[in-house]
Amino acid sequence: MVELQRLIPQVREQHALDLVVVDAENCGADAESMELAAVDALLAAGADVITGGNHAFDGEEVEAVLSHPRVVRPLNVAPGVPGRGTLTVQANGEQVRVVVLADGLALDFSPPWAHMTEEPYAAFAALPAGPATTIVEMHALSVTAKQGLAYALDGSVAAVLGTHTHEPTLPLHLLPGGTALVTDVGMTGPGDGPQGMRADRVAEQVRNPPSAEQREPPGPAEGKIVLAAVLLEIDGGLTRAISRL
Ligand SMILES: [Fe+2]
Repeated sequence: MVELQRLIPQVREQHALDLVVVDAENCGADAESMELAAVDALLAAGADVITGGNHAFDGEEVEAVLSHPRVVRPLNVAPGVPGRGTLTVQANGEQVRVVVLADGLALDFSPPWAHMTEEPYAAFAALPAGPATTIVEMHALSVTAKQGLAYALDGSVAAVLGTHTHEPTLPLHLLPGGTALVTDVGMTGPGDGPQGMRADRVAEQVRNPPSAEQREPPGPAEGKIVLAAVLLEIDGGLTRAISRL
């Protein structure tokens, strides 16, 4: 968190960024849930929109986090679930809509009340018309679901950015219609443990699996912080270039 708070203003200035979107679903002290103080700290550091996936529905502060006006959680859950699945903000004088979608495999890690109730594409297609520029985060375990969604939306959104696996994928695609695709942006956090978590505790849970009730979050790993992010150059609602920071 502290590293990212330091980095956001630097990166913002260095690349003259108009919009910074941060998936902060593991920003809590347990490295799994989201906490309000961390969300506010990221916004104060210069993030414009905070997103979350399956872990947006976890933690003691879940209600406060989901009701935060700058937090976006997966859209394709039941209508009564708190929070919002889209958010439109101003960036360099233009409106940009951020939409978060998730696949069922990712949302299976959420509490039962926040499992997937609608296919991601159908949920997106049911949205009212938005501004010219839309960025989609696809929080999914399935690589093919992320790729398929990007091709299905090619030409109608600026980007489909995959998240959830924490492992940044190598190819950065610019599809024929002008939609950028990366199947996983990757994680910003400690690089010395699986998913940024304590390796000894994760290994112990693999050797001796606890019941769902007994399981406790392994907590964050130590070690060097890695930054995973992509930079989009968007013009007229479509992407001209995608690169890694
Ligand atoms: Fe996730």
